[in-house]
Amino acid sequence: MAPKVRPGIMDIAPYVGGEADIPGIARPVKLSSNENPLGPSPKAMAAFREAAVELHRYPDGGAERLREGISRRFGLAKESIVCGNGSDELIALLTRAYAGLGDEVLFSRHGFLMYRLSTLAVGATPRAAPEKNLATDMEALLAMVTPATRIVFLGNPNNPTGTLLPHSEFFEILKCCAGQGTYCVLDESFIEFTSEISFVREAIRQSRLIVVRSLTKFHALPGLRVGYLVGHRAVASRFSEQLEPWSVNTLALIAAARSLAPGGAAGCTCTGAYFGLTPLTASKTAACRIAAYRETT
Ligand SMILES: Cc1ncc(COP(=O)(O)O)c(C=O)c1O
Repeated sequence: MAPKVRPGIMDIAPYVGGEADIPGIARPVKLSSNENPLGPSPKAMAAFREAAVELHRYPDGGAERLREGISRRFGLAKESIVCGNGSDELIALLTRAYAGLGDEVLFSRHGFLMYRLSTLAVGATPRAAPEKNLATDMEALLAMVTPATRIVFLGNPNNPTGTLLPHSEFFEILKCCAGQGTYCVLDESFIEFTSEISFVREAIRQSRLIVVRSLTKFHALPGLRVGYLVGHRAVASRFSEQLEPWSVNTLALIAAARSLAPGGAAGCTCTGAYFGLTPLTASKTAACRIAAYRETT
């Protein structure tokens, strides 16, 4: 008898990407996948081209140099940082590491699609909390935390709704997760499009908080696939043990490190407004343009 597909796998509908071709338009920007129309940093692209001569070598295993760059940029210990093949891979691996059959993974109703798919893939039960006005309803979410909840995913800002979580509510959810021994995974893949502070520094202090970030949105490197997470040193080091040794390729590592280095990022935060990601005010948009300009010069 042929081996059976694991429970949950058959519940995953194949991903159907948005339209990528428009008759008469040579190179359309695919907003359904949040492509940054401004493209990546010219410095990152130059680093990418130079790195082509290294293709006969395996990538920097453990993403040592990129992690050093992230650590310098945010003033975090390198041991608290783990890089992955896009934040998607990190979301999938976090779910695989902490949830399985009989466990629950919680997120809000319009949370990013991968929270649900990763949960089904490991045979755990996805639980979607109702929202209020398309935003996380903290009370409804907390009411659904049970002893079986292994992870609570929070998108900040969330995709596709573009909503932000008030800090007081975030800390309330985190307190509940810590009390239950549940991981709170804060997905900051789009944080640069807002004027919000990142919680990466909080993540190194809190053993139940993991922050996920991406180089594919603001830094406009979706074709290379690179993201990272920040967590308590012990959690990050244990988690990194399950990574494939070379999951992030050489070109991605080098371009990402250059984009994150001082003066590296050319992505413009006001593109968030195109995507309707965040309700940016005119003054915030102007501030974002200035910040992006400073980054590139
Ligand atoms: C909220 C959110 N998190 C994570 C991701 C995954 O991004 P990537 O794997 O490209 O880093 C996406 C992609 O659209 C997203 O919308």
